[in-house]
Amino acid sequence: MKLIKANDYNDLSRKAANILSAQVILKPRSVLGLATGSSPIGVYKQLIEWYQKNDIDFSEVTTVNLDEYVGLAPENPQSYRYFMNHHFFNHINIDKTKTHVPNGIADDLEKECEAYNHLLDEVDGIDMQLLGIGLNGHIGFNEPDGEFEKLTHVVNLNASTIEANKRFFEKIEDVPKSAISMGIKSIMQAKHIVLIVSGQEKYDILKQSLFGPVTPHVPGSILQLHSHLTVIYSCGREL
Ligand code: F6R
Repeated sequence: MKLIKANDYNDLSRKAANILSAQVILKPRSVLGLATGSSPIGVYKQLIEWYQKNDIDFSEVTTVNLDEYVGLAPENPQSYRYFMNHHFFNHINIDKTKTHVPNGIADDLEKECEAYNHLLDEVDGIDMQLLGIGLNGHIGFNEPDGEFEKLTHVVNLNASTIEANKRFFEKIEDVPKSAISMGIKSIMQAKHIVLIVSGQEKYDILKQSLFGPVTPHVPGSILQLHSHLTVIYSCGREL
């Protein structure tokens, strides 16, 4: 595991963007696993800037996102598909047909999960997975539980996750209660995982995840077992 302490959110974003951009430069046909939420917004902003300066070409890149809320259509500004288009895809030369986010309004959610697993097999592995971590230790929407969910699944969001994500909605009742999430096995199969963690409030869960026991009650703890994990953090204190 490689730990990189960043000075602040901007520094963290630039460092992570540097790693992603090197990945795409070295392998133009990279498959990138992407995340939503507050943590990666700065990374996407930086990558857009470098794209505009002709430093990166995304034309051959494929992306797979970690998760999507159940019940939100792609046009809904709170959906993760909308988020990705708005914060990243609309501003770079990526082929949108090569960008994948689970479909939260699929008629048959179980089939949608199977189809997403099939897609992950078809793209032949994620080269680099960008990850954030929730205050309760979730990665993707793999919530603390008695066991690790291996593959893409429908998950009931924890009260703490709904509480944490209400900031993106008008009122807490609007936050969807369930989501589709890539499973732990799929995340762990990524060749390189880049975890970005910002904010003092994340310090304890990050420490627990990286140095505590590996347990499904702290889903992020599984990352200790990954052979190529880079953690970039800015939590006010050294780990
Ligand atoms: C988002 C995702 C989540 C977030 C986590 C942290 O696609 O899978 O695991 O990474 O909830 O969210 P932020 O970055 O908003 O603190």
